[in-house]
Amino acid sequence: MITPGQRNKLIAAARAARQRAYAPYSQFHVGAAVLDERGRIHVGCNVENASFGLTVCAERNAVAAAISAGAARVRAVAVFADEAASPCGACRQVLAEFGAPGTDVFIASPQVTGHDGMTLHELLPMQFIYRDPARAPFGRRRPRGRRDRA
Ligand code: THU
Repeated sequence: MITPGQRNKLIAAARAARQRAYAPYSQFHVGAAVLDERGRIHVGCNVENASFGLTVCAERNAVAAAISAGAARVRAVAVFADEAASPCGACRQVLAEFGAPGTDVFIASPQVTGHDGMTLHELLPMQFIYRDPARAPFGRRRPRGRRDRA
C-alpha cells in the first residue's frame, strides 16, 4: 500500500506526462507513472507511429524509463488518459514482470481523479511466468553437466 500523498503525486505525474503524448493518429493521449521500490517516480506517454503496430503505450514506456533509471520493482502505477483507460493486456503482463499481486493501479482522467485503485492481481489474475527470475542461472553459474554451445 502507498500513502494518499504518494498516490496523488503519482496521478499528477501521469497527468503531466499525458501532455507529452505523441498521438496524432488516435488523438488519445495517455500518461503513465510508476512508483519504484525507492519511492522514485518514472513517467511515460504513448508514442504512436505511422506504422500503427509500432505504437507503444504509456505504461510500457513508463516501465522502460523506470528500469533504465535503475529501478527494480514497480510498487504502484497511475494511468491518466483523456477518458479513463484500463491498461491493455500487453501492458498488464509487462507491469506484472516488475510488480506484485498487490501492486496498486490507479486509473484517472480529467473526470475521475479520486480513484481508489485496484490491484495488479485484479487486472491480471493469471500472468504468464516463464521461470522464477531469482533462480535464473544465466550469468551466475552454468547448469551442471552442460556446456555452452557455439
Ligand atoms: N494506450 C495507452 O497508451 N495505454 C492504454 O492503457 C491504452 C491505450 C494508447 C495506445 C494508442 O496510442 C492509443 O492509446 C489508442 O489506443
